[in-house]
Amino acid sequence: MATNITWHHNLTHEERSKLVKQNGATLWFTGLSASGKSTIACALERKLLETNIQSYRLDGDNVRFGLNKDLGFTEHDRNENIRRISEVAKLFADSCVIALTSFISPYKKDRDEARKLHNESNLPFIEVYVDVPLSVAEERDPKGLYKKARQGLIKNFTGIDDPYEAPEKPEIHINTHEQSVEECVDTIIEYLKKEKIIN
Ligand SMILES: Nc1ncnc2c1ncn2[C@@H]1O[C@H](COP(=O)(O)OP(=O)(O)OP(=O)(O)O)[C@@H](O)[C@H]1O
Ligand SMILES: [Mg+2]
Repeated sequence: MATNITWHHNLTHEERSKLVKQNGATLWFTGLSASGKSTIACALERKLLETNIQSYRLDGDNVRFGLNKDLGFTEHDRNENIRRISEVAKLFADSCVIALTSFISPYKKDRDEARKLHNESNLPFIEVYVDVPLSVAEERDPKGLYKKARQGLIKNFTGIDDPYEAPEKPEIHINTHEQSVEECVDTIIEYLKKEKIIN
């Protein structure tokens, strides 16, 4: 743990926001594997960029190719994975970009910590619960992970032999078995407008 360190300030967040003409925020997508987090986050990222709103997606799998490539799936490594993603998302939000994180994040405690980190810096943290019945997620199984988990080839798989703690009060709750990708994206855009995060 470093001790002789001091935070070096430049612009305030408000000054930066005025100069770049945009607000930052973190949209934290959570839900079962195959619920549609990456699919919706991708469609939303594209839609925001097409309307000149800077957005960047931190996808669970993608982050493990680089920043978190030294981490596995032990409890310590999962916690560290989330901690780093939270910190990076916070930096993006602070730089007035809309950060989209998409990974299962099954534990309430971890998501609450990410929220706390953002709250401490007065940055919007928006929990997006990507809800789908387990049976539908298992039917979709785009990566074949449920099949492997059922065969016992993957241990501690969320929804099969590890719990998913559903958010109690997510800012946004979407049901991907009832709403199309476009409808889910529109629901999120409406929320961002209502909260005056985007125009
Ligand atoms: N309304 C919908 N919203 C999102 N995805 C949908 C919808 N309907 C069907 N799908 C399909 O469901 C699958 C969702 O896969 P996706 O990779 O987005 O899930 P994920 O939540 O990111 O999973 P993981 O946690 O494993 O990364 C895709 O094949 C997508 O085409
Ligand atoms: Mg994904």
